[in-house]
Amino acid sequence: MIRGAILLVAATGCSAEPATLAAQVTVEPNAVTASAAAMCGNEPLSACPLQSWMDATLAPTFKRKDFAALGAELHDLAGLGPEGWSGWQELAEAGAAAAHKGSIDGVRAVCAACHARFRSRYRAERRSRPLLDTRGEKL
Ligand code: HEC
Repeated sequence: MIRGAILLVAATGCSAEPATLAAQVTVEPNAVTASAAAMCGNEPLSACPLQSWMDATLAPTFKRKDFAALGAELHDLAGLGPEGWSGWQELAEAGAAAAHKGSIDGVRAVCAACHARFRSRYRAERRSRPLLDTRGEKL
């Protein structure tokens, strides 16, 4: 925004290279529109709610092989399944069951299965929504 405004002033105040300056100025509004559409995601944007929870909570627990915490977290995740996305809850509960048995391979298989089945759809349809548990509280 600011850069665009400065370039605009420069473009109107200087006739040396109007074509180059005009080109720079017209790129700017597009960049602003694109970043306004995606409110979260990959750098430089901040992580989206589920992405952030996966990165900061579930993945570290998985790495530590903390099976008690993994079971509880996967159970929470089961309750976050969007309405009508059949299989989400079952997958997450299968992961919780594998965690309770102490099977890291079983948990890993569930992580992979859910990502294969739901990740791109989630990103396309649900990404910026806050994570609410069954009591409506933010996770
Ligand atoms: C019930 C479905 C489900 C399960 C089970 C699941 N995830 Fe995810 N995970 C997702 C979705 C959906 C996203 C995409 C979120 C986004 O990008 O906004 C995601 C994203 C991630 C990310 C962020 C980076 C990336 O690759 O997109 C990490 C890390 C991650 N998951 C780790 C794990 C681990 C480790 C497990 C197993 C212990 C696991 N997940 C189990 C659904 C699941």
